[in-house]
Amino acid sequence: MKPPILIGENISFSPEFYAHLDKLSNSFVIVTDSTVKKLYAKDLERRLRSRGHTVKTFHFKGGETSKNRETKAHLEDQMIKNGIHRDFVMIALGGGVVTDLAGYIAATFLRGLKLINMPTSLVGMVDASHGGKNGINTDVGKNLIGSFYIPSLIVVDPMFLRTLPDEEMKNGLSEMIKHSLVSDSNLFTELYNSPEYYRTPLILRSIEIKYSIIGKDLLDRGLRNLLNFGHSIGHAIELTSNYQVGHGLAVAMGIMTECRLSKELSKEDLQQIDSIFEKYNYPLFLPENVTKEGIYKTLLFDKKAMHGTINCTFLSKIGTSYLERIDPNAMEYAIDWMFKRFGPPHYAENFNHALVD
Ligand code: GLY
Repeated sequence: MKPPILIGENISFSPEFYAHLDKLSNSFVIVTDSTVKKLYAKDLERRLRSRGHTVKTFHFKGGETSKNRETKAHLEDQMIKNGIHRDFVMIALGGGVVTDLAGYIAATFLRGLKLINMPTSLVGMVDASHGGKNGINTDVGKNLIGSFYIPSLIVVDPMFLRTLPDEEMKNGLSEMIKHSLVSDSNLFTELYNSPEYYRTPLILRSIEIKYSIIGKDLLDRGLRNLLNFGHSIGHAIELTSNYQVGHGLAVAMGIMTECRLSKELSKEDLQQIDSIFEKYNYPLFLPENVTKEGIYKTLLFDKKAMHGTINCTFLSKIGTSYLERIDPNAMEYAIDWMFKRFGPPHYAENFNHALVD
């Protein structure tokens, strides 16, 4: 279930990397987005060709709004037209959107192509490229269609982070903070105190937490739900804002809000959690198009999709988590808190932090 993972600065230029690829095939299909194509895919294509491999590259316009059926169909049509056959191994080179979309194509194209995930974003390195989940969004929700498909190799090279914009770094940092909150208080402290959180050792710790959880529940029937901490609210914010609020910022607000559901969490822990996002200068606010009604509608849809039983992750303290059913009253309170804290000023009227924190 845990595929080989190559990790380290510049690992994607190492003899070890080429040896793994040589073992898998001599034909590769790179799927990437337009930005990563220019930055890294052309160079990778050239390097693989110079070693005698056949390489074809397909790209799409980057961004969450491309993660849909249309982009998938377009890429598949291109691959069919260009004669991609079952000996080709797919390399998903890019961020979470690329690995989600390419992974889904790899899972179904000719009933399955071998897959190599090469995440170029921090969120891809610590989260999205591990655990086999892939998929696409529809108008009513994120990741509603997809599969579990384990890659044959994952290559985590923090060298790619050199060109990553700050917002993208925050997408990854939010997931690392999430991992630490559900499972490892020491990692939380290290993230708090390490501005260089994007180096190999902390990335590796974050990855290990993910595998320790999915090792017990790959197919997401129970325990894996711990990894959705902050994401029920986070997804609802992303969707209702029409993706105006990026994933990392939405998950940060989701984490802070879902923390308010946990009765046992101490005031000190709550403050530490709020302050890690302040420390890393997260610009957290809800734009005007995010309304309470919109958030409830999305949460209700999620609930229906899960047969009415949404389990939510609760923290008893930083680093210790458990799953429990959501109490609708507690959720209402938490959403109220969120709008007062992050919403437009009219939500904050008569607001007293001391009462709700
Ligand atoms: N990103 C959450 C999971 O892989 O389950």
